[in-house]
Amino acid sequence: MRNVILVGPMGSGKSTIGRLLAKELRLAFKDSDKEIEQRTGADIPWIFDMEGEAGFREREQAMIGKLCASDGIVLATGGGAVLRSENRAALRSGGRIVYLHASVAQQLERTSRDRNRPLLHSADPGRVLSDLMLVRDPLYREIADLVVETDERPPRMVVEEILDRL
Ligand code: S3P
Repeated sequence: MRNVILVGPMGSGKSTIGRLLAKELRLAFKDSDKEIEQRTGADIPWIFDMEGEAGFREREQAMIGKLCASDGIVLATGGGAVLRSENRAALRSGGRIVYLHASVAQQLERTSRDRNRPLLHSADPGRVLSDLMLVRDPLYREIADLVVETDERPPRMVVEEILDRL
């Protein structure tokens, strides 16, 4: 197997599940946001502040391209990684793609204690998440080899399903 790539919205569990999955498959785990932060020497909210979302998306595209050219990794992508067609093409050719689905209610619950997501620095994060899902859910589905439900399920159970079905 080449790479396993996790896509899905904020709060779908990509990092937690990716780490566990990488251990099971004995592959390295990479998180594209963490790689961007390391490369830039700044965190995601700072990049959004200084360069806007457009600047972040440029960095994200460069990083997705680089990571998809690797071999033998489990890759957790940012929730908006599917927005650009160039990214969708890179992800498609980069490995098997798993869409971690979560309802907006679960996304909201899982992200509510975290200030590291600039798109959710809003008076109504539930509305933001639901608007994002309208646009992105079809894009996640378009490129996914596998869609896995994460609502009300412990990460280990999700990992087992991925291992069974991959
Ligand atoms: C974003 C999701 C974040 C991060 C950035 C933008 C998005 O990643 O890439 O804040 O557009 O949905 P996570 O999905 O890992 O939270």
